[in-house]
Amino acid sequence: MNARPETATLPIRLADYRAPAWRVERVELDFELGIDATEVAAKLLLRRDPAQDEPLRLEGEQLELLSIALDGQPLPATAWRLIEGGLEVDGARDGSVLETRVRVHPAANTALEGLYLSGPRESGFLLTQCEAQGFRHITWFPDRPDVQSTYTVTLRADRARFPVLLAGGNPDGAGELEGGRHWARFVDPHPKPSYLFALVAGRLEKIERDYRTADGRNVQLKIWAEADAIDRCHYAMDALERSMRWDEQAYGRNYDLDVFHVVATHDFNMGAMENKGLNIFNAKCLLADPDSSTDDEYRRVEAVIAHEYFHNWSGNRVTCRDWFQLSLKEGFTVFREQSFSADMNSAPLKRIEDVSLLRRAQFPEDAGPLAHPVRPAEYREINNFYTATVYEKGAELVRMLAGKLGAAGFRRGTDLYFARNDGRAATIEDFLDALGEANGIDLTPYLAWYGQAGTPRLRAHGEYDAARREYALTLSQHTPPGAGQPHKQALPIPVKLALFGADGRLLPLHLDGQTSTGGTEAVVVLDRIEQRYVFRDVATRPVPSLLRGYSAPVILECDYAPDELALLLTHDPDGFNRWEAGQQLAVRACDALRDGTPPQAVAAWCDALAALFDDAGLDADLLADLLTPPGEIELAERESVVDPTRIHMLRQQLLQHLAVRIGIDKLDARYRALAAQSTAALDAASQANRRLKQRVLQLLALLDPARACSHATVQYRHAPSMTDRLGALTVLARHDTARSAEPLAHYRAHYANDPLALDKWFALQAQLPGEGALARVQALEADPAFTLKNPNRARALLGTFASGNPTGFHRVDGAGYRLYAERLLALDALNPQIAARLATAFNGWQRLEPRRREAAHASLTALAAHDKLSRNLAEIVGNMLK
Ligand code: ARG
Ligand code: ZN
Repeated sequence: MNARPETATLPIRLADYRAPAWRVERVELDFELGIDATEVAAKLLLRRDPAQDEPLRLEGEQLELLSIALDGQPLPATAWRLIEGGLEVDGARDGSVLETRVRVHPAANTALEGLYLSGPRESGFLLTQCEAQGFRHITWFPDRPDVQSTYTVTLRADRARFPVLLAGGNPDGAGELEGGRHWARFVDPHPKPSYLFALVAGRLEKIERDYRTADGRNVQLKIWAEADAIDRCHYAMDALERSMRWDEQAYGRNYDLDVFHVVATHDFNMGAMENKGLNIFNAKCLLADPDSSTDDEYRRVEAVIAHEYFHNWSGNRVTCRDWFQLSLKEGFTVFREQSFSADMNSAPLKRIEDVSLLRRAQFPEDAGPLAHPVRPAEYREINNFYTATVYEKGAELVRMLAGKLGAAGFRRGTDLYFARNDGRAATIEDFLDALGEANGIDLTPYLAWYGQAGTPRLRAHGEYDAARREYALTLSQHTPPGAGQPHKQALPIPVKLALFGADGRLLPLHLDGQTSTGGTEAVVVLDRIEQRYVFRDVATRPVPSLLRGYSAPVILECDYAPDELALLLTHDPDGFNRWEAGQQLAVRACDALRDGTPPQAVAAWCDALAALFDDAGLDADLLADLLTPPGEIELAERESVVDPTRIHMLRQQLLQHLAVRIGIDKLDARYRALAAQSTAALDAASQANRRLKQRVLQLLALLDPARACSHATVQYRHAPSMTDRLGALTVLARHDTARSAEPLAHYRAHYANDPLALDKWFALQAQLPGEGALARVQALEADPAFTLKNPNRARALLGTFASGNPTGFHRVDGAGYRLYAERLLALDALNPQIAARLATAFNGWQRLEPRRREAAHASLTALAAHDKLSRNLAEIVGNMLK
């Protein structure tokens, strides 16, 4: 529904947490479902905390009250009142039963929070989204995660219009009603918070599979989608089964209901939602088939299926006490998903992907006006805190803990955590306590990571004493002030390290004070401002490899010489570290190009990669990643004054050097060889080939665009997979606008009825760099398939333009900002969560060069001056201007 004007809402503070005065032991919900109006009857068995004497207050938003009764008696109007955001009731006692009936309006709900309609009113279906605070849009309730209740849910609806009725829990009867109506009931025996409630009703098809858990329960897995999409759910089903097995083995976690439903919708604010027994997915994260999904999308489906499934324990069985603890479930679950994906696919590639995401999304957040700790101290709108910091940095914190405890110790810790907190609403402290106690280690020093915003800088300086054969490594840390924290404290930073000899071989480590010596890898934990580590018996001046596997989410500052990084890039046996050395070297190369200093780093990077290009022993996918320097957003993070056009040009220049160094003939030959093997197969080797082929084609296009575009034209025409098709289209669109027109039109027509494929078509064009982007985006807005009402579509065109096209969005004249701000306003009236999310594209505006900064500031100020902003958008824009 429409955004409400929010007058200066006060922030909610972690420090103000109080246990609920009233709990709900049992809930019975009855739905009379209709597209325009749905009636919800709720019966709550109330429990009162004897230590508190607060009146009964329930949250509720945009509910039309039909009736209210307490302990079987209709309540007189004097015994209840509507208060800001809810309802206050007099006379309730411990054990009282409160009954309310309300009406809600699903078809008018454009915010996609609470009960809403997905798709056209004639054919679409009803569904819910309750995290974080959507349940209060369905009925009056103490809508907070530390109130856990058992749910009995009865759905009633017209059978023809809503043949499928689903809610979380186990099925508990179904039948016919008068007038072509029917009903179905579900009972969830596991007490859960209201944010995990879900229902789905409409015309849906399903695929099913039987699953038997390790502890012997038979479970029916059912994936539901609209008829035109059901054939694209098989991959998700396979991934679900793999996830369930993995969680049994890796964490000893079994599924705990008789059915597990997964539903796909095209109208969803986020990626997916872990509602108990009834996961709901953005179709983008569930549907997959070779004709319309890229390799990256396949991996994403597997990852999101796993993520939501894993929440059944990390989130549902053990939930969060309050929303400040969000990372307790999200950081941990992201980490669990990362480990799963690493096991299913290539571990180094997964790590590369995750660290890239952290740098691209979380570092800028942590360095700008939206910075907040992994456990924030306050918020106005909790939906604004489903951030890269809570998710991705949160996962890095769990990774550090897991690294500290070792595999067996971490498992002991998580076993204790789950056992002790099962059925509870827990805190980050509960997590650290259990992990520590199971291992006899005090992990409280790591709590500081949860409370302190900003990315720590880790400085490393090495000195070699040839006479004493000693290598002294000095590590120091510093976290810049920010997020209302002027003085940052030292954090425990685990630094996994190794030393390489000049010949590129690993040296045995003899570290002072370290018990096990002689191995080639060690972890030191820097837990103060500065510390010196002395390695003995070091035969030659070593090259240190630091933060191996990215052992802590920090920015490493080490004055490597270019040839030292090149040595690591060439010789490190670990794929991730090799990539990391290449990234550092590429950054140095960009600096040299920018400053006009001697281009040693450029030569070192190009030479090393040219040699690796010929190395037949190197995996194709790793090579593809090695050939990719840090993106423009990452490069911009290192500048104190950002000129996006300049950064774009520098990066292009660097790639140009690389292409020249490898040479046109080799690139062309490699492209042809890879193209000759092209299939639609999804095995790792085929995916790797496609990935490398695309990198090679892009490099070739820098040297000989005409030839690359000829290849791309052929590739588009005969592409056996979406990866190949989209890759070809991208190269054509970037290098030959004229030649791209026909295939772009072909794609548009061919996929006219496939929303996910169309999103890719919008996104591809929104990303084309340069000043022309704005006009292109405006033209695409006029496409009949464009709408602000669908989050995926809005993100594909507008989100990609603002966050994935630096040169296009950051026009010097500010026209990109103005258009975008206008669209944010329009979006805000429909869907505040999406508007607020997209508004974060302005992050970093303060560091733009003056002309752009002025323009961005003007657009943001104009936006902030609007009096009808949602709380969501107002908070983001307000913080941005702080
Ligand atoms: N818990 C969901 C996940 O798996 C995300 C839901 C977020 N919803 C929201 N309205 N912010 O990560
Ligand atoms: Zn999650």
